[in-house]
Amino acid sequence: MGSNILITGAAGYIGGSIVAHFLATTNNVVKKANIIAAVRTEEQATALSKLGIIVLVLDLTDESAVLESVLRHNVGIVIHTASGLNTEIALHLVTALAKRKEVSKQETYIIHTSGESAFSASTGWPQGETQDTSLFEKEKELADSYPVRKTDVAVIERAKATGVTSFVVIPPMVYGKGSGQWNQLSVLLPVYIQGCFSSKSVRKFPNNITVSAVHISDMTALYEKMVEKILLKEPIPDGEKGYYSAKAHEVQWWELLTRLAVRLEARGLAADSTVRLWSDDKAAAKVLGVPEQFVSILWKSTSSMVPVNKRYLGWEPVWNKERLLANIDEEIDAVLELGEAKSSLISSLFEVAKG
Ligand SMILES: NC(=O)c1ccc[n+]([C@@H]2O[C@H](COP(=O)([O-])OP(=O)(O)OC[C@H]3O[C@@H](n4cnc5c(N)ncnc54)[C@H](OP(=O)(O)O)[C@@H]3O)[C@@H](O)[C@H]2O)c1
Repeated sequence: MGSNILITGAAGYIGGSIVAHFLATTNNVVKKANIIAAVRTEEQATALSKLGIIVLVLDLTDESAVLESVLRHNVGIVIHTASGLNTEIALHLVTALAKRKEVSKQETYIIHTSGESAFSASTGWPQGETQDTSLFEKEKELADSYPVRKTDVAVIERAKATGVTSFVVIPPMVYGKGSGQWNQLSVLLPVYIQGCFSSKSVRKFPNNITVSAVHISDMTALYEKMVEKILLKEPIPDGEKGYYSAKAHEVQWWELLTRLAVRLEARGLAADSTVRLWSDDKAAAKVLGVPEQFVSILWKSTSSMVPVNKRYLGWEPVWNKERLLANIDEEIDAVLELGEAKSSLISSLFEVAKG
């Protein structure tokens, strides 16, 4: 059975935290699985080597290297967190799993990590409530206008065509310090807090947006629930029906920023606790260190995702809005301790912006 699990992006925030969660789990089913971590550099591999698991420095853009690794390590399940933007590498993983199924005559599975931005009005998704039970047709129709959508659809279609079982996990804004060996910082909140540090002030956008959010520990628990279902062969929706929103709760940006400003001032990290407006997106982009064209997608977009499929997993997140606001100091501490996020997302955005 597919109990060798390859986790891509294992040096990343989500992937690294999944590795740590799975290695520490008390779940009797999941703890029997073998974890194989795929990273991009030797330095990352050295950092992960202390975990006592197989760590591969794997260039996911190299199709034959991906195939060779999947076959050599008898991988039955891939948890792909390396990139939702890069369609090609996701397809390499699906193709390798299809080959592994052909050779071993055993089922193979891909859990692909998407992002809630794919279902947000700022990327062209229609306004209004969206349930994760019925996303495929609309996502396919809109696939060419946003790369994350394109990758989701390509994974689902290639998997279906080649007999691989696919699932798409949709993280909203993930917060909390990660537990991996390399990057332990998320993107949206840490980058924003870093911007507050550098300007010694807290600024907001003119519209008070409601965002979906999940704590990293709840996020990794969702992947664990999914893997448990796979290993127990308990059927859950897959393929075109197999989208799983990881939304745990909502929070309004203004409420979050008000709380942040109070704590930053109290700690001498902001000049005062007044939350002022950004003069425009250009100014925000400069302070936050992202291309201007992505300011809207990152901090001004909302989605009305309704997580329904989580009921098949029995996933019950522990963190809620009140807990996030009460523990905002943990978010500040993580950025103070770790500095700028090692996430590759911001550099990927600059590459996309360059064209
Ligand atoms: N964090 C969030 O709040 C959030 C929310 C929604 C969706 N997501 C999505 O979830 C996924 C993981 O996010 P994350 O926060 O964990 O990001 P991250 O910390 O940047 O982790 C991604 C990891 O994948 C690796 N990677 C990227 N491109 C690769 C490639 N072409 N080949 C091999 N490895 C590659 C990166 O390597 P390097 O370390 O060498 O760069 C990094 O270690 C991303 O697709 C992201 O868009 C994240």
